[in-house]
Order: sequence, then structure tokens, then C-alpha cells
Amino acid sequence: MKDRIITTEVTKVDQELDQELRPNYLGDFIGQENLKEKINIYIQAAKNRGEVLDHVLLYGPPGLGKTTLANIIAHEMGTDIRTTSGPAIERPGDLAAILTSLKEGDILFIDEIHRLSRVIEEILYPAMEDYKIDIVIGQGAAAKSIRIDLNHFTLVGATTNQGSLTKPLRDRFGVIERLDLYDPESLENIISRSSKILDVNIKPEATEELAKRSRGTPRIANRLLKRVRDYADVYSDSEINLETSKKALDLYEIDDKGLDEIDRRLLKIIIDYYDGGPAGIKAIAAALGEEVSTIEDVYEPYLIQQGMLIRTHTGRVVTSNGYKHLGLEKNRLNTTQMRFEDLNE
Ligand SMILES: Nc1ncnc2c1ncn2[C@@H]1O[C@H](COP(=O)(O)OP(=O)(O)OP(=O)(O)O)[C@@H](O)[C@H]1O
Ligand SMILES: [Mg+2]
Repeated sequence: MKDRIITTEVTKVDQELDQELRPNYLGDFIGQENLKEKINIYIQAAKNRGEVLDHVLLYGPPGLGKTTLANIIAHEMGTDIRTTSGPAIERPGDLAAILTSLKEGDILFIDEIHRLSRVIEEILYPAMEDYKIDIVIGQGAAAKSIRIDLNHFTLVGATTNQGSLTKPLRDRFGVIERLDLYDPESLENIISRSSKILDVNIKPEATEELAKRSRGTPRIANRLLKRVRDYADVYSDSEINLETSKKALDLYEIDDKGLDEIDRRLLKIIIDYYDGGPAGIKAIAAALGEEVSTIEDVYEPYLIQQGMLIRTHTGRVVTSNGYKHLGLEKNRLNTTQMRFEDLNE
């Protein structure tokens, strides 16, 4: 497979990098000022009252800091965190084992919480509401249900797709917060912070360039930094300047707005086959060979933020900005011309 930077998969290298660069306290968490302030208030209020924090649901595109925030909440509350994920909890016994092992005030972090099965979700409801679970022991006529009291805990759930969460589950969270794509300034600060931790020699112009091309995402910013460092190690005595960063990013096919090959193909599909749109999401997904949810959660938010794509009730439409970015103008002539070019490729 091609070495892609804007992949949805989190590789092992990523995990190690994430771990190394992950801020531990709210004060080190860069950007998302509004969200940070709210979380800080919830934490201080809970601590002052000597209560556990309300259950928190964090949602937003991958790589924006959901896992990071869950860990920060535990650090700031001074409690332990237990981490698991929706698909990892298969049987009711798995969840019961986790819940009964939690100490008073502990954080239970469930990543990809939208992927919990219904059966598991139903055990979670009374656990979240009343800190109790009912489990069935034995089978058939001998089966009986017993109730277990749990210690008070805080569930922190993370999802890239808030819409696919069931309503009863969503309703049981006291705090529901969205993480937005980061602005270039915050990304610059994140890259500077990471450069210091990784002991990378990077010029301010290069930091700015990387920030511009990180599609609003800290994980991508860190990934780019690492790739560009590799490049600079080989070609420019380890100093990352504007020129090396540009060359390295071109090599990885990340353009000056941070779009990669799939983003551009997505726009081109809508332009080529739907005359710029509206195009249905399922058709786009089929043509692109990606899941609908991946397109919605990973690719579209950035294209929308950049004003290149809009969602309408009849489908996706490429804006004149999107055309311009591909070197096209939004009218029929150019669409036809582009098809012709495609044939010549
Ligand atoms: N606000 C921030 N300040 C500094 N670094 C950050 C921030 N947010 C995220 N990061 C960095 O980005 C990496 C990815 O963040 P994180 O793993 O928390 O994302 P996520 O939202 O949980 O992603 P996913 O949806 O893929 O699980 C972290 O390791 C951290 O280094
Ligand atoms: Mg995560």
C-alpha cells in the first residue's frame, strides 16, 4: 500500500509517537480554548464538591485529542484511568469485569463508543445512572439475576461519529463536547512543542508551512514533522527549513492546502461525474473505494472547513473554491476539458 500521511489507520509508530507527544495536563493542551475552559470548570467544580465528574462524551474527527483529553481528565482529577474500546467489549462479562474493578472516582475511557453492541449498552445504562449492574447467573429455569453495586466512576466516551450513537446512550452523558479542527496558530504551537520534545531543529517558516498543511489535525502535524525530519536528516544536515519542508511534503503528495491524493480525487469524482454536484455520498464512496463513514468523518470535515465542499440535502457540491484549488473554473466547459485530460492520462 502507498505510504499515506492522511491515513485513518493509527499505526504502531503513530501510537508510540502519540504516547511520546501526548500532553498530560490541561495547561499543556494547546488550542480548543473554549472546550478547555469548560472542562477545567467541570473538573474544579467536581473536585470542590468532592464528587465524581459527570460522564463525558467527546466527539470529532480522528487525531484531534480525544484520547489525550480523557487522560488529561484523569490526571487533573488525580484518579486512575482504565482504557478500552467499543469493539473490544464483546460479552457482558467483559464489561462487568471492568466495571467491578473500578475504584471510587476512576475514569473509564471507552474509545469508539458508537461501536458497542446493544446488549453491552443496556448493561451500561444502569451503571452510568445508578452505579449498579444486573447480571444473570446460570441458565434456563435456574437463571437468576443479581445486582452488583459499583463504585462511583466517570465514563469518558470518544467517537468520531456522534450521529451513530443511540439516543439513550447519548442522553446519559452529562457533558457532550465537540473537538474542532485546529487553527494554524495552534498547530504551529503544537509543532513547536513536539520539535522540542523530539529535539528537532526546525525554522519558524518551516513550522508555519507544516501547520498549514496539517489539515487542522495535531496527529497529522506530528506525523508530518517526523517525516520531514527524516527527509532533512538525509538531505539537509538535519535542519528543517522552508525549502526542505516543502520538498518533503511534495514528495508525500500533500499540497499547499494540506490536501492529499484522496481529497483531490474525491473532489474530482464529483466534478467529473456529477458536474460538480450534488452527488450522493454513497455514490462518491463507491467511486472512491472508501466507507461512507470514513468520508464523512475523515475527509469531508477538512474540505468543508477549507470551503471547497458543501453538504446540501440533495448531496455534496464542490464550490468554486474547490474548482480553483484543482486549477479549474466552475463551468461546463472546464468539466468537459477535464474529462478530456483524464482520457489522455
Ligand atoms: N491540543 C493538543 N495539544 C498538543 N498535542 C495534541 C493536542 N491534541 C492532540 N495532540 C497530539 O495529537 C496526538 C493524537 O491525539 P489523540 O490520540 O488524543 O487523538 P484522538 O482524537 O483520540 O484520535 P482518534 O480518533 O484517532 O482516537 C496526541 O498524541 C498528541 O500528541
Ligand atoms: Mg483516540
